[in-house]
Amino acid sequence: MRSPLTGGRGGGGFSGGFSGGRGGSSGGRGRGFGDRGRGRGMRGRGRGEPGRGRGAPRRGGMKGGSMIVEPHRHAGVFIAKGKEDALVTKNLVPGEAVYNEKRISVQNEDGTKTEYRVWNPFRSKLAAAILGGVDNIYIKPGAKVLYLGAASGTTVSHVSDIVGPEGCVYADEFSHRSGRDLVNMAKKRTNVIPIIEDARHPTKYRMLVGMVDVIFADVAQPDQARIVALNANFFLKTGGHFVISIKANCIDSTVPAEAVFQSEVKKLQQEQFKPAEQVTLEPFERDHACVVGTYRAPKKVKAATAA
Ligand SMILES: C[S@@+](CC[C@H](N)C(=O)[O-])C[C@H]1O[C@@H](n2cnc3c(N)ncnc32)[C@H](O)[C@@H]1O
Repeated sequence: MRSPLTGGRGGGGFSGGFSGGRGGSSGGRGRGFGDRGRGRGMRGRGRGEPGRGRGAPRRGGMKGGSMIVEPHRHAGVFIAKGKEDALVTKNLVPGEAVYNEKRISVQNEDGTKTEYRVWNPFRSKLAAAILGGVDNIYIKPGAKVLYLGAASGTTVSHVSDIVGPEGCVYADEFSHRSGRDLVNMAKKRTNVIPIIEDARHPTKYRMLVGMVDVIFADVAQPDQARIVALNANFFLKTGGHFVISIKANCIDSTVPAEAVFQSEVKKLQQEQFKPAEQVTLEPFERDHACVVGTYRAPKKVKAATAA
């Protein structure tokens, strides 16, 4: 199997770096919508991913022991390059781990230190989508994000790192048990607003949530498309973006995963979402896909033809 970070075979990066990770079959591929000619998303790794040419110059890298940290092509995401490459985010709360993840401290040129947290794609569908080569995650420094299906806040904490102090994450979770961890995490991460409500009833939290740039959804429910549409109607800016993780067997376990993904994409299109790209989350999650795109995309104006 190709290592998604190093491009090597087996061994390095996450494919071998995290013991106990679920392997799954390789060959995960994505595809773009309406852009098939260029085959966007039709690969396991995207443009500018690490591992392209080991001799390539390391621009903007910082050293931490034997680790070098470089910016990923998605703003706010980084790659720690060492014996094993790892996806990392800059820790918004240095000194604190959220789920016992590894932390890496690197020395900057001016002598100060920056701490990063390792982002495990076996525990986060967003990280798996990034390693799957998704072209756009839209979640970037300064962004306002509504996160549906926050669970204990594992991925939310990395989204909080990415959007940074200028951005914010409204993190919704309906399970009170998971919600307790989420609320505790948010005590230290002031850009996370935890909401313990059913995402099917956005009116219950409309007083807490402002308009957002991105909705991220990972509720693993058969009516996820409807849940996202309901929330988008309340909170997502026109021309805003969505990132949705689809777990095929939560929606319909009687048909092939690809058929489920197609029917979910159709549902989204009927709700004013314009899907732009789809990547599978293999080898990190079996029969999962991540679909990203735009909400109420402004219509393209045709160039005026000369008389
Ligand atoms: C797959 S887990 C999410 C994992 C999480 N996104 C992460 O990466 O750490 C799905 C979560 O969605 C929550 N969920 C399911 N239906 C929901 C709903 N209607 N409203 C809010 N949360 C919901 C579940 O309780 C569960 O914690």
